[in-house]
Amino acid sequence: MSSKATGSITVTMEGSNKSAKLPLLGGTLGPQVADIRKLYGELGIFTYDPGYGATASCESTITYIDGDEGVLLYRGYPIEQLAEQSSFLEVAYLLLNGELPNKAQYAEFDKGVTRHTMLHEQLRRFFEGFRRDAHPMAVMCGVVGAMAAFYHDNLDINDPEQRRIAAFRLIAKVPTIAAWAYKYSVGQPLVYPRNDLSYAENFLYMLNGVPAEPWVNNPILSRAMDRILILHADHEQNASTSTVRLAGSTGANPFACIAAGIAALWGPAHGGANEAVLKMLAEIGSPENIPQFISEVKDKNSHTKLMGFGHRVYKNFDPRAKIMKETCHEVLAELGIKDEPLLDMAMEMERIALSDDYFISRKLYPNVDFYSGIILKAMGIPTSMFTVLFAVARTVGWVSQWKELIEDPSQRIGRPRQIYTGAPARDFVAMDKRG
Ligand code: ACO
Repeated sequence: MSSKATGSITVTMEGSNKSAKLPLLGGTLGPQVADIRKLYGELGIFTYDPGYGATASCESTITYIDGDEGVLLYRGYPIEQLAEQSSFLEVAYLLLNGELPNKAQYAEFDKGVTRHTMLHEQLRRFFEGFRRDAHPMAVMCGVVGAMAAFYHDNLDINDPEQRRIAAFRLIAKVPTIAAWAYKYSVGQPLVYPRNDLSYAENFLYMLNGVPAEPWVNNPILSRAMDRILILHADHEQNASTSTVRLAGSTGANPFACIAAGIAALWGPAHGGANEAVLKMLAEIGSPENIPQFISEVKDKNSHTKLMGFGHRVYKNFDPRAKIMKETCHEVLAELGIKDEPLLDMAMEMERIALSDDYFISRKLYPNVDFYSGIILKAMGIPTSMFTVLFAVARTVGWVSQWKELIEDPSQRIGRPRQIYTGAPARDFVAMDKRG
């Protein structure tokens, strides 16, 4: 890790002569960071930052976001270039290893991932233990966590080779688990992976293929799937990634950590948003109801949010949303969908929101999930699978961040503090003496 000292700031406590000089650190890009580690020791005070809006929890070399400028870089490479010119597996190599692979490195990585796509046959029986109507994210949490019960030979997190194998297994098997969660829910035979297909093709094959007839690859759709996976692969210290890191900081095995990440991703404020966008559009029903919906969103007492809008970090535009919007049009054109009422509504919603002072003043713009749901729906992916697909893509980022955490000698168990506002110390009162 290599942040550099760039200066210092002095914190003085008003009303006393106590002060602390705190080092300022700088990374390659982004704002300077005050290193507050000595603050408690020197002044006896904690810092307070609920939601961590101004807190760097770690050093990382993986992903950089400039929320004001709408910049997203994976290992320094702009997301637009990667989405246009790279492939998901190449991006996975980049995120995990720090550099783009040469031909030989790529071939070896590709082989490593494709050779791990099958699940232990006993894991197959897990699926039958779930109700058919279980949400596939619930199945994902369970089966990914259960991988630790099957792959004992790569649980030693201090062995780099075991970490490497665990990374391969997670990246390779997560699409199989995701597709099987879906197949199980619709009562179709579970489709075994095909290693002659690309990562995105194989995923679509396992989702849509049936033994009764040959599966035909549509290159436009598999390219769109590949792009969706690239766009969702990593996003620095978001809620699910921070969850993976926090779990990882305890020394928990990688399968447990990724299962924790999947759980955090499930929420509608995070990965569940793409599913929520479609639900919202369906509930609004038709464009003439949009103004009424927007006024409900603006009503402080309503708790209604415009799903797919807003982001903790992007306060200008989400660069992923731009690419997603283009991909959305490409996919609909390929599928010959000229009038997609949901897309028309989404575009009308975007137009109205972007000209409304409520959204402008709060810097609320469409995020990646505003359009991804519409593409996935057009591709025939059921709504309940949207967040699962996000989890498949983000597994690469989670694994890369987990690996970086384990390899960082300065890492300690994550253990935030609090402002305690509960009762002061008091004596226990026996039940018969309580009022
Ligand atoms: N619709 C309406 N108002 C919103 C929205 C929205 N989608 N997002 C934020 N606001 C408002 C808030 O009510 C708040 O208003 P106030 O200042 O009057 O109280 C203001 O904008 C600031 O919002 P915060 O909640 O402080 O923003 P925060 O950074 O905490 O939340 C979040 C970010 C969770 C993404 C939020 O914008 C949201 O819930 N969006 C909808 C869900 C969504 O699309 N999530 C996907 C995120 S991207 C991803 O995970 C891939």
